[in-house]
Amino acid sequence: MSDNQATLNDGGKTITMPIKSGTIGPDVIDIRKLYAETGKFTYDPGFTSTASCDSALTYIDGDEGVLLHRGYPIGQLAEHSSFMEVSYLLLNGELPSSDELSQFSRTITRHTMLHEQLMTFYRGFRRDAHPMAVMCGVVGALSAFYHDSTDISDPVQRMIASHRLIAKMPTIAAMAYKYSVGQPFIYPDNSLSYTGNFLRMTFGVPAEPYVVNPVVERALDRIFILHADHEQNASTSTVRLAGSSGANPFACIAAGIACLWGPAHGGANEAALNMLREIGTPDRIPHYIARAKDKNDPFRLMGFGHRVYKNYDPRATVMQQTVREVFASLNVTDPLFETALQLEEIALNDPYFVEKKLFPNVDFYSGIILSAIGFPTAMFTALFALARTVGWVAQWNEMISDPGQKIGRPRQLYTGPAQRDYLPVDKR
Ligand code: CMC
Repeated sequence: MSDNQATLNDGGKTITMPIKSGTIGPDVIDIRKLYAETGKFTYDPGFTSTASCDSALTYIDGDEGVLLHRGYPIGQLAEHSSFMEVSYLLLNGELPSSDELSQFSRTITRHTMLHEQLMTFYRGFRRDAHPMAVMCGVVGALSAFYHDSTDISDPVQRMIASHRLIAKMPTIAAMAYKYSVGQPFIYPDNSLSYTGNFLRMTFGVPAEPYVVNPVVERALDRIFILHADHEQNASTSTVRLAGSSGANPFACIAAGIACLWGPAHGGANEAALNMLREIGTPDRIPHYIARAKDKNDPFRLMGFGHRVYKNYDPRATVMQQTVREVFASLNVTDPLFETALQLEEIALNDPYFVEKKLFPNVDFYSGIILSAIGFPTAMFTALFALARTVGWVAQWNEMISDPGQKIGRPRQLYTGPAQRDYLPVDKR
């Protein structure tokens, strides 16, 4: 391999391929001409060695536990910034001035209401529907209500659709919750912050005024920051792949929500809390650690391990601190937090987890905070989807704006039967 090209010996024929460098992080070997020159594909199920695109949004160094958005470390953003500011940063590339931030927040606020007819759409769901099922359906349906922002070749329409999605997700998620508990939908109150408004739409009732607790508002805003974007993860790649065919943004985000729902991805926050409840008390931890290590048992420690992080997930560090702040401010405790801390300590000292570099991820502690705030477990992944929407739309915009963008179309290693002749049923 030379400085700027890699060579491959394929049956005596030497192929050279350019090496491209990013700002930071591993270089990539540009294999786009490989098939034309060798008649061979690369093989990388699960994309463990494949960069699928150029992106200037988010950088992760999984070995060092680093996460940067547009260059800014997640710890600094979580401590000093707000979800609106991080949203602006992800969408526009730079931190906003004070005027730009006010203008952006006003724009998002103006889009918080949902078309009134969507209320009847909700009533078609069963009351016990999972909020993520409702989110997939309602977000997909937005394209039927907001046709005027579905021309993806128009950058203005693309930005309006992005603002609409960021603004409407809290309303959609809160309505999914309200519907499940049989309470009236609460309309947005644009005098509140993005996160305060979401808390009121979720926990407020028309019969009483709702006062937003500033500590809870700040904690939830921070959780939203921690989930805002995460490079080319499964749901973001789903949004990009769906968008690469020219599908409208509402349909693409619905696809992302569907992918996020899985327990290996966003569904892990729900699964992690359910697991902690099942473990119950610290004395039962060794039994579950043994199960997680047993190859014949499908059980895994939920909220542990990550495809990219082979070190402590920096989001989990902030999340653990936030649990302590929320508990102190609400004057609550949760024995599950103690169980989680002990589980973490035991796992981090166990050779199985050490050798495989399995550390707590963002989902390990988030459920404990969300539960203390009052969210039912089934809402956890819906909150992840709400926050990740900005990352999805920013990545989608970046892809559509790229003049070299093509439809995503992976190839395969075919392992089925070779060509054979059809036999009529009486001859089989
Ligand atoms: N508990 C026990 N063993 C584990 C775990 C775990 N949580 N995670 C990975 N392993 C083992 C796995 O059995 C495998 O062992 P071996 O090499 O002996 O076969 C090895 O570690 C590598 O695992 P993998 O499944 O090949 O790794 P992956 O990169 O494909 O999977 C993961 C990453 C996140 C899907 C996986 O670690 C996992 O299932 N974790 C639990 C679910 C979870 O917490 N997901 C949230 C991820 S962060 C938020 C998000 O992305 O939405």
